[in-house]
Amino acid sequence: MLNDNFEHVVKDPEDATPLLECAWKFMPAGMRETIASEPIIPAVVARAKAIAAQNPDFIRCDQGQVVGIFPKKEIYYGPTAGLEELRELIARFWTLAYRLEGRPGIPADGLDKNHVAIVSGATEGLAIVMRLFAYQQNVGLMRLYWSNYRGIIRNAGGNPIVVNLFDKNDHFSPEIAERVIKTHNITSLLINFPVNPSGDVLTDAEMANLAILARRLGLIIISDEVYNYLRYEGEPQSMLGFAPERTVVVSSASKEYLIPGARVGYILSANKSFTNHWIPNLIRSSSSSPNILGQRRLIEILRPEVNDLENHRPPGFITAIKEELKRRRDLMISVLKAKGFTLAGRDKDTPSGAISVLAKLPDDIKVDDRTFVEKAMELEKFSVIPASVFGAPGCLRFGYAGMTPDVIKKLSQKLQDVLDFFRNHSVS
Ligand SMILES: Cc1ncc(COP(=O)(O)O)c(C=O)c1O
Repeated sequence: MLNDNFEHVVKDPEDATPLLECAWKFMPAGMRETIASEPIIPAVVARAKAIAAQNPDFIRCDQGQVVGIFPKKEIYYGPTAGLEELRELIARFWTLAYRLEGRPGIPADGLDKNHVAIVSGATEGLAIVMRLFAYQQNVGLMRLYWSNYRGIIRNAGGNPIVVNLFDKNDHFSPEIAERVIKTHNITSLLINFPVNPSGDVLTDAEMANLAILARRLGLIIISDEVYNYLRYEGEPQSMLGFAPERTVVVSSASKEYLIPGARVGYILSANKSFTNHWIPNLIRSSSSSPNILGQRRLIEILRPEVNDLENHRPPGFITAIKEELKRRRDLMISVLKAKGFTLAGRDKDTPSGAISVLAKLPDDIKVDDRTFVEKAMELEKFSVIPASVFGAPGCLRFGYAGMTPDVIKKLSQKLQDVLDFFRNHSVS
């Protein structure tokens, strides 16, 4: 049963979707008050700004920041949900790049700024969303997952459980998925495609089947799409286009636009109450408001990107990034294969996206991934991430996005040196 107050926090009756209902049901009771609150200060500030812009005699005593001493050095607080222009640009980018217009459950002309809330990186976005869905719940993670997920889910009072949704050929299997989801009493799934560490994606048919299953089982899908446009084969897709009534997308400028230090991420949903009211009320007690400088930077980047898309051209900046990354990926894969590594994601030949590949150590190397990495660093040959932290023991995650083609070629000999070390020394 939903608490009576639910109606007051749903701004539009059409927003009473499974997304809001599940969040309201699962969140800790105290959070409902935060969501329902109508904070006074931002309301006064917004009104004061609007009046002052029209009336020079109006005196503002509402300000909670130092203003006017060194005006050129000052950086003001921004709106809790982010700068409107940025929210608008992101809504447009996603509508056009992921072809969301006219999909069932998405407004006919696509998303608008009220479907977007800016946060301090996807990490903050995930932390906030998990507080809504994970508390005292079992949250399903895919077999390969970003290492931070466990901590994010636990911090929200949830229980991360790795589930296998794939059959022996590594295809999404609704039957297997239904069984494990029911067995573990999973109420939401945290998915990530293209996936860190392996770069795999779900096919369109798999996303459609996942949506059907989620609908049947009443599941919420939290879809981490921080690498979504960095897809080297096929058209990028968003889970929002498949199950809009129960999906929250979290993404960011960190990977796709090369500015992780700017800390600009965002939460997208087809539900305006969610992104325009609930999430901002939570941001207020999380980071207060996202970084203004980073947001301005992303506005500069996205304006021409959206202009390209509106004119039916691929977005120029990210397309150039993608082309270079594809070259690096191809080179990295050929170097690794030549040294006896095998790709360990779902796609054994050419993982479709993201910025790293997952490679299994050659069969004759009888050490675990951490030992291998430790030795490669001790010999001062190269660094790489032991993939047991992503749920893939015996594998390594090679991040090629920060390596020029020349450096990737040089890695070849260094890999050989470390492999030779293990072949020539028995390690206990
Ligand atoms: C899958 C995934 N999600 C989220 C993040 C974090 O993104 P942000 O820098 O926007 O917090 C990362 C960073 O490595 C990631 O790999």
